Amino acid sequence: MKVQILENKTAIGEAVAALLCDAIREKPDCVLGLATGATPVPTYDALAAAYQAGKVSFRRVRSFNLDEYCDLPKTHKNSFYSFMQVQLFSRVDMDPANVGFLDGNADPAAESARYTAAIEAAGGIDVQLLGIGRNGHIAFNEPADAFSQESFRVALTESTIAANSCYFDDVPMPRFAITMGVGLILRAKRLILIATGESKAAAVKAMLEGPVTPQCPASALQTHPDVLVFLDPAAASLLKQ
Ligand code: F6R
Repeated sequence: MKVQILENKTAIGEAVAALLCDAIREKPDCVLGLATGATPVPTYDALAAAYQAGKVSFRRVRSFNLDEYCDLPKTHKNSFYSFMQVQLFSRVDMDPANVGFLDGNADPAAESARYTAAIEAAGGIDVQLLGIGRNGHIAFNEPADAFSQESFRVALTESTIAANSCYFDDVPMPRFAITMGVGLILRAKRLILIATGESKAAAVKAMLEGPVTPQCPASALQTHPDVLVFLDPAAASLLKQ
């Protein structure tokens, strides 16, 4: 895994957006794996700015998001689908037909099979963007006894609920989500993980310097040949080197 430490989240957002723009220019119908949460927001801001400056077009880009809450309407303002509309899709020329999302209200087994087949039919994910949870989760793969493979319905941990409850003001935060599994995520050709802030430092250390274990789902990235990790100094603060 290659690690780059940049001065702050804005610089990281610009660097990651530049990589994604290169990938799109090289392959205009490339398949992006996208993440939600606070971490990728500067990247989405920089992508929107690049589009508005005429530097890139998303017209043929296809995307698959990592996860979605269960038991929450897709149109609710806190769904990950709504998040992506606000943060990226409505700001660029993305074709809604090219947007792939897990349905948190569908039968999980059927939905998992549908999603894996859709990703395969698209030729697989070219570049997967990832954040990391304070407990080492990627997507909503919480610490567990074994690495997950395909998409599945997961009970969110107290750590994840505590980190995300602040976003829910009108309904209680859902306790379940549907998420791409670790095995499915690792099938992406290239992975870019971003971590910013001190609250991620212990998870980053476990991911990069700890053993490969499902107790730190992000540690599975050590087994992938093409992973780029962007950190700010606070997220990197517990690393040995
Ligand atoms: C969301 C996702 C999660 C987040 C993680 C960090 O699609 O996959 O794994 O990346 O929970 O969230 P933030 O960025 O809000 O700290």
